[in-house]
Amino acid sequence: MRLGLFDSGVGGFTVLKKVIEICPNNSFIYLADTARLPYGVKKTSEIIKIAEEIASWFGCQNIDAFLIACNTTNAIALDVIKKNLNVPVFDLIGSAASTIQESRVGVLATPSTVKTKAYTNAILEFKPKTFVIEQPCPEFVPMIEMDNINFDKIADVASRYLQPLVREEIHSLILGCSHYPLITPVLTEILPSSVKLIDPADSLSLRLKSFMDSKASNFLKKKNLVDLKFYVTSNQKNFPNKAKHWLNVFPEVNLVSLQKKGCVS
Ligand code: DGL
Repeated sequence: MRLGLFDSGVGGFTVLKKVIEICPNNSFIYLADTARLPYGVKKTSEIIKIAEEIASWFGCQNIDAFLIACNTTNAIALDVIKKNLNVPVFDLIGSAASTIQESRVGVLATPSTVKTKAYTNAILEFKPKTFVIEQPCPEFVPMIEMDNINFDKIADVASRYLQPLVREEIHSLILGCSHYPLITPVLTEILPSSVKLIDPADSLSLRLKSFMDSKASNFLKKKNLVDLKFYVTSNQKNFPNKAKHWLNVFPEVNLVSLQKKGCVS
């Protein structure tokens, strides 16, 4: 299958990695909207416009399914993406919420995601008595996107963000921004060992796998083949290095404009 996924930057790598692990024999088109990073402090209207442009660009990429590898867009514009794409859409928030077992849950996410309460609402739909506390983390994404990441500084900020959640004695913590699994070692160092970390990419990958299994006969099965194509929206010289660092691939990266209307071959 040809799968499309996007994020503002490197966050979606965490989703790509999980999906490749669970559904390996596929081709992937990864779009990083680097020109507009970070998404997590943008207004709703901006995210909706971005979602429309991204859906319209992927509409020209001949994909079989689309994965929203960005929680902020997922929280604000899932319906916009679904309306503008005529392929199955897999999302992080709905996938993760349906698997929550714990009764006290923390969520770390961008300020724009937290404002929507999308995680709380989705979890309560499945388990109405769950206690959910959401923590906005505005400083994480810019720090994770830096060329030289300062993990000590991230640890300081993380202690501050995690304090109210630990005080509430959460049993599990959802990494509600796809960038955050990249700093899992920092978070586990601070959290009590009883707190279970939940990466929504796990449940998204499993949903995708069962969809693929049900459709398997309709698609050509290739063995052990992962085909990756990367696109960015601003000239990011360091993007291949970032892909090397987080994914262990050094890809050719293509620059695209999402503002161009219509499909160009
Ligand atoms: N990684 C994205 C998310 O899951 C976007 C973060 C950002 O650009 O602020 O929310």
